[in-house]
Amino acid sequence: MDSRGMTSEEWLGVIEAMDSVEPYYDRVNGLITLGLADKWRRDVAARAGPEDVVLELGSGPGSFARHLASKKIYCVEPSRHLADVSRKSLPHEQVTVIRGVGETIPLAEESVDKVFCSFSFRDFRDRPKGISEMFRVLRPGGEVFITDVAKPPSGPMAKLLDIHVRHMVPVLARIAVGPDVRALWDRNPYRTFAETYDAFGFTAVYEGLLKDRGFSEVGTEFLRMKGATMTRGRKPWKSTYS
Ligand SMILES: C[S@@+](CC[C@H](N)C(=O)[O-])C[C@H]1O[C@@H](n2cnc3c(N)ncnc32)[C@H](O)[C@@H]1O
Repeated sequence: MDSRGMTSEEWLGVIEAMDSVEPYYDRVNGLITLGLADKWRRDVAARAGPEDVVLELGSGPGSFARHLASKKIYCVEPSRHLADVSRKSLPHEQVTVIRGVGETIPLAEESVDKVFCSFSFRDFRDRPKGISEMFRVLRPGGEVFITDVAKPPSGPMAKLLDIHVRHMVPVLARIAVGPDVRALWDRNPYRTFAETYDAFGFTAVYEGLLKDRGFSEVGTEFLRMKGATMTRGRKPWKSTYS
């Protein structure tokens, strides 16, 4: 795996790892982020208003979508298992879960007000294509929010986070799941997630992708305790002049 993107075999490995951790995904996330993961999700989800039509790409078991309170929410998720799990737990009146990938979003152009990618953009195999698709489905003036674990380019914080993700997280996950689950693991799935942390781009790269595609107001902010970042951009309003 490298910054050019994953092979299809590596990508399927990530999906399988996600499927296998689903029963304890939220518990382990809580532990490895000291309870911050859900607070980050809540803070980001608050960017959507009640009247918005919202799209979440890579919704997994619904851990982010359950914090959204908008009138219409589309969740796109490639894993059949995770799509089924989230369909059961998320409110049917508001939420439609669709199997698919962010690189070919199964929605019409200019049909949504907000796009969220929470801890999933790193898994996209073709990130520029994903950004183009987000631009296509957003209405003029709509916004995109890409959230992931902070990844500073250098310095002591970069070292610390790297050690945490690479070494501490797999150990904490082993402790959190207990001996019965551990016995079923051929390979600790949290090692796979450490590899995707290695491979995902710095926020400056994501900002560059958004700007290249024509998004405006592009910028990144830290979420609580600076453990995660949210990169955002707006699809420009249509000019009234020609
Ligand atoms: C770490 S989970 C994040 C789940 C949820 N958004 C959250 O906040 O916890 C990443 C999700 O992205 C999905 N994913 C992987 N590749 C994807 C792609 N190309 N397009 C959309 N989602 C993808 C995975 O199946 C997985 O469910």
